[in-house]
Amino acid sequence: MDDLKRKYLAAIDAAGSEAALEDLRLAAVGKKGEISLKMRELGKMSPEERQTAGPALNALKDEINSALAAKKSALGDAALNERLRGEWLDVTLPARPRRMGTIHPVSQVTEEVTTIFADMGFAVAEGPQVESDWYNFDALNIAPEHPARQEFDTFYMHRAEGDDRPPHVLRTHTSPVQIRAMEKQGAPIRVIAPGRVYRSDYDQTHTPMFHQIEGLAIDTDISMANLKWCLEEFCRAFFEVDEVELRFRASHFPFTEPSAEVDLRCSWVDGTLKVGEGDDWMEILGSGMVHPKVLQAAGVDPSVYQGFAFGIGIDRLAMLKYGIPDLRAFFDSDLRWLRHYGFASLDVPTMRGGLSR
Ligand code: DAH
Repeated sequence: MDDLKRKYLAAIDAAGSEAALEDLRLAAVGKKGEISLKMRELGKMSPEERQTAGPALNALKDEINSALAAKKSALGDAALNERLRGEWLDVTLPARPRRMGTIHPVSQVTEEVTTIFADMGFAVAEGPQVESDWYNFDALNIAPEHPARQEFDTFYMHRAEGDDRPPHVLRTHTSPVQIRAMEKQGAPIRVIAPGRVYRSDYDQTHTPMFHQIEGLAIDTDISMANLKWCLEEFCRAFFEVDEVELRFRASHFPFTEPSAEVDLRCSWVDGTLKVGEGDDWMEILGSGMVHPKVLQAAGVDPSVYQGFAFGIGIDRLAMLKYGIPDLRAFFDSDLRWLRHYGFASLDVPTMRGGLSR
């Protein structure tokens, strides 16, 4: 029995794993273990022998069981310590900088334009992308037979069979937000409305979904001179140059009278745009004095109030400012493109900190 005890206690002490311990347990005190077999022999012994051997075997069994349990918990602690050592992390080490995605140029430019106009006192207004025929056209002085309806390449929503109301449309411009904002707030009002618009068109500079930003300023004494100043201020700030020159070219929009398309003096040097100098002109937006019928449709009295409106293509601004050649790539979700043209997520544009740094 002493031999058994020495043998097993030494083996348990030396065991290197829980599996090895389990093997030892089976060999010693398992059903067919050495000590269990010895206990079965008790039956063959004389009562005197049994009297000493029985308690001694039981004591040996207990001792081995508790040695097994102690070793098992020691092995467990060692495994935990090993894991803790392996998973140790020095939190005082400086972090490895990693870009957590990028800001899309459309978001960046929307943010830049919004920041500039917010600085001039414009609030942000919104409207739905699925718009009624009335808001998208009629209220903006575009009657059903008006040719502008065809020029827009409008996407029409489905109407149930037999429902002959005019179908809703995917808004073709942000101008309907002018009506919604004036209905809600009345005049005086100064808002901009950035958002998605839709037209059935697809080539290098057109995608079926794109972005515009609408501007609207209505009060008792707003003139075209205010429009010109606002747009010049905007261009100076947006293109981050000291001087800009704008050219107002007579145009026609149903919702403004008079109407002007605005061109920006520029030059192209080796394919990059230089704003404010040179002999080229680039069209950047449509604008004008809001048509009295538009004010009327929105519940604003045109004999008291007047003002200007403008509409700018955001994607086009992004292409110009950041030298991006193909509009279609904007909406491909190609990660390589996004990493190349995207902006760091923590660099929020501000007037004081810089727009595009
Ligand atoms: N809605 C016009 C378009 O999508 C752009 C526009 C032109 C908006 C003149 C205006 C404006 O507010 O006054 O082509």
